[in-house]
Amino acid sequence: MAKIKIQICNGTTCFVMGGGNQQALSEILKNKYQDKIEIEAVRCFELCSQKDAFSKAPFVKVDEQVIDQANIEKITKAIEEKL
Ligand code: FES
Repeated sequence: MAKIKIQICNGTTCFVMGGGNQQALSEILKNKYQDKIEIEAVRCFELCSQKDAFSKAPFVKVDEQVIDQANIEKITKAIEEKL
């Protein structure tokens, strides 16, 4: 089974808007899903520069699904839907 790809935005806007705890987020997800997911920190998705999107940061992608105002609950839900 292919791993679910989690991309955590590492850009400034997402960091300032709450993505700064991504290391903790990453650890929680790795512990919970282990070999079912792969996690990478990526540069700005450029979503934050789109109209009205700034306030929706931080962004995370689960496969190609964009999660705005990303938190552990939203990311976990998206992962569970794909398992
Ligand atoms: S900093 Fe995350 S989308 Fe731009």
